Amino acid sequence: MKNLIGHNSPLNPQETIQKNITRKKPILDREPQFFNGVPIPSWIELSLIDACNRSCNFCPKFDEKIAPNTYNKMEFDLIDKLVLDLIDINYEGAFCLCGYGEPMLHKDYLKIVNKLAAVGPVEIITNGDVVNKSSLLKIYRSNASRLLISLYDGPEQLEKFQKMIEETGVPKEFVILRDRWYSDKIDFGVKLTNRTGTIEIGNQPEVNIKQECYYTAYQVLIDWNGDVFLCPQDWQRRNAMGNIMQKKFFDIWNGKILSKYRNKLLNGDRSLSPCNSCNADGTVYGTNHYLAWKKLI
Ligand SMILES: C[S@@+](CC[C@H](N)C(=O)[O-])C[C@H]1O[C@@H](n2cnc3c(N)ncnc32)[C@H](O)[C@@H]1O
Ligand code: SF4
Repeated sequence: MKNLIGHNSPLNPQETIQKNITRKKPILDREPQFFNGVPIPSWIELSLIDACNRSCNFCPKFDEKIAPNTYNKMEFDLIDKLVLDLIDINYEGAFCLCGYGEPMLHKDYLKIVNKLAAVGPVEIITNGDVVNKSSLLKIYRSNASRLLISLYDGPEQLEKFQKMIEETGVPKEFVILRDRWYSDKIDFGVKLTNRTGTIEIGNQPEVNIKQECYYTAYQVLIDWNGDVFLCPQDWQRRNAMGNIMQKKFFDIWNGKILSKYRNKLLNGDRSLSPCNSCNADGTVYGTNHYLAWKKLI
């Protein structure tokens, strides 16, 4: 093994988690934008495809009863509608392609990146299994803002991807390699949560339904079919806040269902499902959005 010190190789899971937080904070902790006097989100996560080629034991994908691979895919119509809705509200936030599957399994993921990039920066989060020199170059030459690769197998993957980055000439800063190959004793190197009661493995904190949660103040997750969910923790996917194909993005964001959750969560009340089985901290990002909402609710 060579070249383990330097670029992207902390080999220290806490350091990797902290780096991830530090990277996202300027976007997620920015002063919120407003539309019609309402704070709007800074982060939209999209789940392009309901399938993953892996099944990691700390991820709900491990259990077919909870998250089966249906291979349903997001269509361009939906992206086009979302882009129009976001232009309407002058959205200046970012996008993340991640969600409930492996985004690079969607054959048109780069076309989707390019459509979204007309509105804001787009990050791709992948397990790296289909990243090779050719796809890496295509991603770099697309309008993607960054590629994050989760390394689940071992330190040999660091060497493999560092070599690939060097040989393709892609700038090092464009790719973030995340060491996540550790054992359950140290939570796999992931800031582990129970994904709303669907995952028990690792050193999970207790659920505290009196804990505030800021997710609904600053972000949303959109599933392959346009269903809007509370956050990336909600792997139960039972309560959609609305559907992008049926309503305008802003009307869902400012609509009855999401407002009901938000009012409770920003006041330390996780009693509604699925929040009543969620152990995520929920306050890592979004303080400024939270403060803006607190003046209104
Ligand atoms: C479902 S994956 C989708 C993206 C891609 N397939 C990957 O593995 O990076 C989304 C992210 O959630 C993380 N993750 C999965 N289960 C988790 C859990 N129980 N707690 C915290 N993060 C988790 C993964 O490591 C990954 O970064
Ligand atoms: S409490 Fe958990 S499930 Fe509810 S919005 Fe917050 S992170 Fe999501």
